[in-house]
Amino acid sequence: MDQLIEKLVQTHCLNGAELSELLNAHTPELQEKLALKALSLRQRHYGDRVCIRGLIEFTNYCKNDCYYCGIRCSNRKVQRYRLTEKEILDACHTGHELGIHSFVLQGGEDPLYTKERLADLIYKIKTHYPDCALTLSVGEHSRQVYTLWKEAGADRYLLRHETADVQHYCRLHPKQQSFQNRLRCLRDLKDLGYQVGCGFMVGSPGQGTAQLVQDLLFLQEFQPHMVGVGPFIPQKDTPFGGCAGGSVDQTLFLLSIIRLLLPEVLLPATTALGTLHPQGRELGLLAGANVCMPNLSPGAVRKNYALYDNKLSDGPEAAESLGALKRRLQDIHCVPDLSRGDHLNFVRN
Ligand code: 5AD
Repeated sequence: MDQLIEKLVQTHCLNGAELSELLNAHTPELQEKLALKALSLRQRHYGDRVCIRGLIEFTNYCKNDCYYCGIRCSNRKVQRYRLTEKEILDACHTGHELGIHSFVLQGGEDPLYTKERLADLIYKIKTHYPDCALTLSVGEHSRQVYTLWKEAGADRYLLRHETADVQHYCRLHPKQQSFQNRLRCLRDLKDLGYQVGCGFMVGSPGQGTAQLVQDLLFLQEFQPHMVGVGPFIPQKDTPFGGCAGGSVDQTLFLLSIIRLLLPEVLLPATTALGTLHPQGRELGLLAGANVCMPNLSPGAVRKNYALYDNKLSDGPEAAESLGALKRRLQDIHCVPDLSRGDHLNFVRN
């Protein structure tokens, strides 16, 4: 095992058999050991800085029916909302006043937010706030649509691959959704010059070591700029409502491995991790994560963006309590970085 860890630390690369061995050897001691190595790597590249992104969850309408997700179209219990353009621009204004220079527009695949409407909104945000980076997270679209949004000014795109194991992908999604198209989207996005984030849930139904190995191999091959990884948390009104959730420790272990595989990656300590553990976010940062995404959506709609049960949206999770977040970061010797927070290898044109 020591040899394997040495290889990971020196080369930032492991093959499938090695990844499998590493994942199966998970103990609290090994987790701690990797967390220390991941933390020092994070510090080498990013110092004590934690990138802050203001998250705007602008619509919870979604045409998809992912079995795990609380805002899937079949869930009739969700109170649906769609922010107006003014509400979104106001949220950016609030964020900018707080000093934030990185916004994430996240939403379901909402057919009423047409490509033109979104392009217009992107253009307006980038015109009002030319010093800010804009990330989109609005699902699968054609290359033409991604091109349109890039030209309108979008800088980055988050699209979790969800699982790199095709059979597992089918277990998590209805047949209208395919891993192949997901991959096509991710490749198009990268090709078009976006900084791209992929990612997966930890502990989703049917996931075992073999699936996680596929995910980690995929990350090594795809070389994303960002990786979103959080525990699966059941949402009671979904088909997976009665399934077991993912664990905090396995998520932390994976965050450390990902930091070691992709030393410069932008890696959020996710809301899901914060939801499962009162110090989840801090633990994530200490395991190698370097991004926090506090919520900038208007207070009234926050609880409706319920991807899973008990999702956090206030306290240090809320952008308006940036002070509280700052104090919690200080406690773990981190400082908030309110700049655009580009990937280290990214050259702006
Ligand atoms: N538990 C944890 N994460 C979830 N997501 C969706 N539903 C859940 C859940 N029940 C994640 C998916 C999606 C992202 C926006 O949220 O990975 O890509």
